[in-house]
Amino acid sequence: MKIVNSHQAQAWNGYEGQHWADNHDRYNTLVSGLNKHLFAVAKVGPGDRVLDIGCGAGQTTRLAAGLASQGHAVGVDLSEPMLDRARRIAAEEGISNVTFEQADAQVHSFPTAGFDLAISRGGIMYFSDPVAAFANIGRALVPGGRLVFGCGRDYGENEFDRIWEAMMRHVELPDPAEDNAPGPVNFTNSGQITSVLTEAGFAQVTAEPRESVSVFGRDAEDATTFIFGWGPVRHWLRNASSADVAAARESVADALRTFEIDGAVRLSGPSWVFTAVAEGA
Ligand SMILES: C[S@@+](CC[C@H](N)C(=O)[O-])C[C@H]1O[C@@H](n2cnc3c(N)ncnc32)[C@H](O)[C@@H]1O
Repeated sequence: MKIVNSHQAQAWNGYEGQHWADNHDRYNTLVSGLNKHLFAVAKVGPGDRVLDIGCGAGQTTRLAAGLASQGHAVGVDLSEPMLDRARRIAAEEGISNVTFEQADAQVHSFPTAGFDLAISRGGIMYFSDPVAAFANIGRALVPGGRLVFGCGRDYGENEFDRIWEAMMRHVELPDPAEDNAPGPVNFTNSGQITSVLTEAGFAQVTAEPRESVSVFGRDAEDATTFIFGWGPVRHWLRNASSADVAAARESVADALRTFEIDGAVRLSGPSWVFTAVAEGA
């Protein structure tokens, strides 16, 4: 298997991927607000062959397979622990038209024009060379095939920022503006993403702004424990003193209390739903 995104492969096959696999229900609760927007735009047809990029534990792949009842869905991901979870859930649910493969989507030899539609819920922001990666995905699509993905969007009133602001009162976090590493915070600018997709050979690129509510936990304490278990947060705080981490936890829990609504911590967050059309292999 050819892998060029080796740092990502390491993270998603290490603590981070294991945490997602072990807590797949919680992560799904966190990000599944995007599903209705993604699938409303993707319009999966009954005969479609669907590729799900960075499918993780496979919730969106399974949903796509359900809609493509006479077609099939293939999920690809770097993370063996997440793929293992994806395969097990699909087997438990008796879904027979779905498969999962470990692959680096940037360089994997997909079957040329083997898919009618490629989708992704937050699995396309981690490529070291996004133009090469999207060109590779484009070759996997039939001419006229669509790529539809959801990713983060920055805007001033992002409730998620309350978490980082509360944390930063006690510990130092990397400044996304100075950290150019691939990841969700550096893949939010619609103009930049449109240029990448165009350079990669896609046409008719559109970006639709959407809001969705994310459920972080049943109460502020539960949500804070979950957030402090995230791989990136553990990484950022690895050199902080235990006193500072404890103070940061308290500060985050306090901030999240404002968002305890109807038995859960709910924060709304902005996203983009991008569509692009493959011009042909
Ligand atoms: C934020 S998670 C989202 C997972 C899933 N789409 C979901 O919504 O639950 C990002 C996923 O992208 C995968 N990923 C990152 N870089 C990748 C690459 N180059 N090729 C394939 N998968 C990749 C990671 O392994 C991880 O599972």
